[in-house]
Amino acid sequence: MEPAQTIIRKLGGPSVVADLLGVHRTRVSSWQRSRKTGGTDGRVPQNHIPALLAHARAHHIDLAAEDFLLVEQSGGTRGRRTSKPDRQRADSPTAGKCILLIIGGGIAAYKSLDLIRRLRERGAEVRCILTPAGEEFVTKLAAGALANAVFTDLFDPQSEFDVGHIRLAREADLIVVAPATADLMAKMAGGHADDLATAVLLAADSPILLAPAMNPHMWARAATRRNVAQLAADGAAFVGPNAGEMAERGEAGTGRMAEPLEIVAAAEAMLAPAERPLAGKRVLVTSGPTLEAIDPVRYIGNRSSGRQGHAIAEAAARAGADVVLVSGPVALPDPPGVNVVKVESAREMLKAVEAALPADVAIFAAAVADWRVAEAGRQKLKKGEGGPPTFTMVENPDILASVAHRKAKRPKLVIGFAAETANVIANAKDKLKRKGCDWILANDVSPQAGVFGGDENTIHLVSAAGVGSWPTQTKNEVASTLVARIAENLGAKP
Ligand code: C5P
Repeated sequence: MEPAQTIIRKLGGPSVVADLLGVHRTRVSSWQRSRKTGGTDGRVPQNHIPALLAHARAHHIDLAAEDFLLVEQSGGTRGRRTSKPDRQRADSPTAGKCILLIIGGGIAAYKSLDLIRRLRERGAEVRCILTPAGEEFVTKLAAGALANAVFTDLFDPQSEFDVGHIRLAREADLIVVAPATADLMAKMAGGHADDLATAVLLAADSPILLAPAMNPHMWARAATRRNVAQLAADGAAFVGPNAGEMAERGEAGTGRMAEPLEIVAAAEAMLAPAERPLAGKRVLVTSGPTLEAIDPVRYIGNRSSGRQGHAIAEAAARAGADVVLVSGPVALPDPPGVNVVKVESAREMLKAVEAALPADVAIFAAAVADWRVAEAGRQKLKKGEGGPPTFTMVENPDILASVAHRKAKRPKLVIGFAAETANVIANAKDKLKRKGCDWILANDVSPQAGVFGGDENTIHLVSAAGVGSWPTQTKNEVASTLVARIAENLGAKP
């Protein structure tokens, strides 16, 4: 029997199905005819599948997503599963990767079975977890027939013994949650771990791709917005949801799960090897303020947050460089993949910088105190009868200038910043000469520019070749632009 015929029969015949879909009865009957005579070769058109599944579910009709899978076959052997799941598409970044697909409980789950096939066609190993709600929509048998392995239960001794949820989390190159329901995302955002899917998601250190699917009202609800924002901040990537008709009759809006091939494309983008134009290069970065002691409890400091320097160190590490970050005291986490040396004073910073040489590139983003107290008090200075103390100040070493003027171990590219409150470019040109560096990244730090502690920077790159002004960018964008320029300059592939 043709698959469409089986489905139509289970649902009560062509008239019932036609009514259900709001189409003419002859249209439904035509599915059983061949394409040549205007039919669909015994297939249910894909756009009608959600509505039919939803109806079957609501009326306890024995119809499952896998029944529709049969209708997705092509090429002569309709009615049997004939795809070649392990056919390699070596050009796909998913080839040879272990993808853990978590299927949540939503009507879009039927598309996840197709997603398994698409991923396996590209040579991925697909392991599958069905949430308890997911099992209401697709059976373990169907998922298991398509995937390399399927798991459902956190407390199943067999699967815990075979793999264990921690290993399941750790062995995945990518975790895809499709459909990601409102409830599953709420649990993820809250760090729940009361079933296999949520426990794995909490234990995972692999990248996570979410394909949300839900009613448009649920997607628009403040709670879902909060959870989505939280998950994005936690590093999850999203594909979809798309706008269109929903499985529920008469409902439309944003909430449809992305199509399997869209999810595959998003997975491929996430698994594509990152460009590493600074691989093999050693990069030294200074960041943050320096604190110059007055006595054991007091110091001279400045308002540098360290955000720009830290962003540069992180971007250079992402580009494959071996990065040493010499940082004054900041309230920022250490950037991932960077060797951080923590210092307080300018003199400590100079020592740490010299110890980190040789380097191919040195970027001096720290706001180094120009002066320090000549003789810092060994004891806390007391309020005395002689009135407030007076301090003799001495100049701090200029770390940038001392590295730029080195004869031995001078980095090929020495880059400084010029934080100016007036005559930005003229002062930067002057600084370039005085300090002997190759590039100055000049920016306006007058209070109205909001650079110190802020998120944005407008940079003018001043070098012997001239002045290039960059558009206003976030500090992260400035970091990426700078790293790309450095890669170009070193002759590496940008
Ligand atoms: O002279 P000015 O402080 O404006 O120069 C700024 C540039 O010089 C920045 O790149 C800063 O990191 C660096 N610098 C330094 N050591 C100092 C003063 C500034 O490395 N003592």
